[in-house]
This record gives sequence, C-alpha cells and structure tokens, in this order.
Amino acid sequence: MKYTEPMFKAEELSGKTILVTGGGTGLGKSMTKYFMQLGANVIIASRKQDVLDGTAKELTEETGGKILAVACDVRKPLEVESLIAKGVETFGEINGLVNNAAGNFISPTERLSPKAFDVIVDIVLKGSYNCSLLMGQYWIKNKIKGTVLNIVTTYSWTGSGYVVPSAVSKAGVLTMTRSLAAEWAKYGIRTNAIAPGPFPTTGAFSRLFPEGLKEKIDPLKRIPLKRYGEHQELSNLAGYLMSEFSAYVNGEVVTIDGGEWLYGAGEFTGLDAVPPEMWDHIEKEVRGKNKK
Ligand code: HXC
Ligand code: NAP
Repeated sequence: MKYTEPMFKAEELSGKTILVTGGGTGLGKSMTKYFMQLGANVIIASRKQDVLDGTAKELTEETGGKILAVACDVRKPLEVESLIAKGVETFGEINGLVNNAAGNFISPTERLSPKAFDVIVDIVLKGSYNCSLLMGQYWIKNKIKGTVLNIVTTYSWTGSGYVVPSAVSKAGVLTMTRSLAAEWAKYGIRTNAIAPGPFPTTGAFSRLFPEGLKEKIDPLKRIPLKRYGEHQELSNLAGYLMSEFSAYVNGEVVTIDGGEWLYGAGEFTGLDAVPPEMWDHIEKEVRGKNKK
C-alpha cells in the first residue's frame, strides 16, 4: 500500500452527483477523476468550454463514469444558476459542491491595480460564495443533505505577502466554511475545507513559482518531508470528505502540506541547517553558560 494509491476502491460515492468548479484542470481534474472512479456523476465547470470538453472526454474513457462539462464563470450568479439547473436536468439532483476554482499570481501588492485585486477576490471569494449560496438554497428547498468542500490554502490563516488578494479571499472562504458549517448543519448540510501545500499543477506553478525565481525560491526547501504532494493524496482526502464516511466531520479544515506551514512558522526549525558535527561545539558552549 502506498500513498499514491487510491484509498477507497469503488462505489463509495455511487448515487451521488458532485459539482467541481475548476474541474477541467489541475487538482480539480484529479478530484473529478477519483470521484468518477468511486461511482459519482460529476459536473465540471469553468470558463473554457474546450478545456472542459477535453477533460470530460478523457475521463469518460478512463473511468467509464458520467460527467457533464458546463462553461460557467463563477463570478456571475446567473451563470451559476444556469449551471445548477443543467446539472439537475442531467442527473436528477446534485449532492456535493467542491469550490475549487481559483485565480492567483505573485506580485508586490503596491504594483496591483484595483482591477488586479478585484479579479482574484471575485474568482476566489465571490465565486465560492455564489456557488455555496445557490447550491445551499437549492438543497434547503429540496431537503437534500448536501456536502460542500472548499479548497483553501495554508496561508488562509497565516496570510502571505505577494499573494495578498488570494490570501484575503482564501481567508474569507475559510471563515465561510466554519460559519456555514454551524448555520446549515440543521439542514444536514456539511461544510469542510482542505488546505493544500504545494501540489504541482501547471496553473499554480506557472504563476507562483516561475522559472526565473527557481534559483531564489525553491518550495521544496520549505517542506520538511522534502517532496511535493501527489494529486492522489489530495483526491483521497477529498473522496473521504465528500463521502458518508466523514458524516460527523463538519467545519473542519484539513491541512495537507507535508508540514510546510508549521516548519516555516517554528522559531528554531531552521536549525536543520546546522550540521551534526557542529552540535558538539554548540552543546559545549551552551552548557558552559550553566557553570555557577
Ligand atoms: C500584476 C496582473 C498580473 C500580474 C494580471 N494582472 N496578471 N497584475 N501582475 N502577474 C492584472 C491585469 O493587468 C488586469 O488589471 C487584471 O489583473 C485582470 O487581468 P486579466 O488578464 O484581464 O484577467 P483574466 O483574463 O480574467 O485572468 C485572470 C487571472 C489569470 C487570475 C489573472 O491568472 C487566470 O485566469 N487564472 C486562473 C487560474 C489560476 O490562477 N490558477 C492558479 C491557482 S493557484 P488591469 O488594471 O491592468 O486591467 C492557487 C494556489 C495557492 O491559488 C497556493 C500555492 C501553494
Ligand atoms: P488550476 O489548474 O489553475 O485550477 C484553477 C481552475 O479554476 C481552472 O480550471 C480555471 O479554469 C478555473 N477558474 C478560474 N477562474 C474561474 C472562473 N471565473 N470561473 C470558473 N472557473 C474558473 O490550479 P490548481 O493548482 O489545480 O488549483 C486548484 C485549487 O487548489 C485552487 O483553489 C487553488 O487555490 C488550490 N490550491 C492549489 C495549490 C497547488 O499547489 N496547486 C496549493 C494550495 C491551494 P478556466 O481557466 O477554464 O476558468
């Protein structure tokens, strides 16, 4: 058994229909594939119909599962309404929502135009609340016990320079996760989040770790497990949180980052850089201070 293998084997999500925003690429595509392997119908939605169609074709062939690809800009409530209507028309009902669509790029904050700030907040925060609100209203009206999974990041609670619009938005999504978990539990609606550290995807890595910066910033150096996340690991966690096995988990955010954020936060974890042979000298010096 290895962490790159699927955790559940089959049917854990059968009978469910899950809407994955940003499901045509990256982590959204990986989660979609696994949900289909576990028997779910999946609706994938993002701005680019051609990308969605390519993913839908590929995953249908690979999994034999059912998928619907709908172009939708999550910033626009009317498009989200129409997306939900199409999903219900195709599959009868929708049981799960994964708010995965995002936009992000690195930039010193003072270089941003108001529009550049808006574009990220609108996709990440507004997109997530548009989808949550409209799905929630649909679930409450139809007495469906839906499940929401929000994909945030570890800087949702620490904040981070150079991605301030994203940090502000993900913090909002994390707060929404906890708030709705408390408010909508009475309808049987659960809301959880996953906070990934670096998982290689073209969308994220091309915008956050561009070639020119590789020399200066190597994200691997910040991860104590010394490797990136594997998509299947994240999909396993998402599969669990979308399944009935997590029926009592509500309002939780699960970090999956190889220990990265705590490593960065710890006052002394940088002492990893001290070579073992130097510790004799350091110990002697420190013990020397104890002499009365
Ligand atoms: C400064 C920038 C910029 C940059 C765009 N803008 N890129 N400003 N530096 N690098 C400004 C533009 O000049 C414009 O403002 C405004 O932002 C909108 O830009 P558009 O190109 O018109 O927007 P659009 O075509 O809608 O593209 C949206 C996008 C793009 C967010 C900029 O990157 C995108 O489509 N991203 C989707 C996928 C994505 O980002 N995936 C990564 C998620 S990773 P002005 O005022 O000039 O008109 C993630 C992981 C985090 O979230 C954690 C990792 C560890
Ligand atoms: P990605 O492939 O770029 O995924 C982002 C998706 O969002 C794309 O499919 C994009 O499709 C869609 N999208 C963007 N704007 C949209 C809009 N207005 N309406 C609808 N869809 C829109 O990047 P990723 O790495 O897989 O990221 C997926 C999620 O994981 C994001 O929430 C990200 O913040 C989170 N995350 C990733 C990492 C990582 O290391 N990869 C780490 C932490 C968190 P279109 O362009 O077709 O619209």
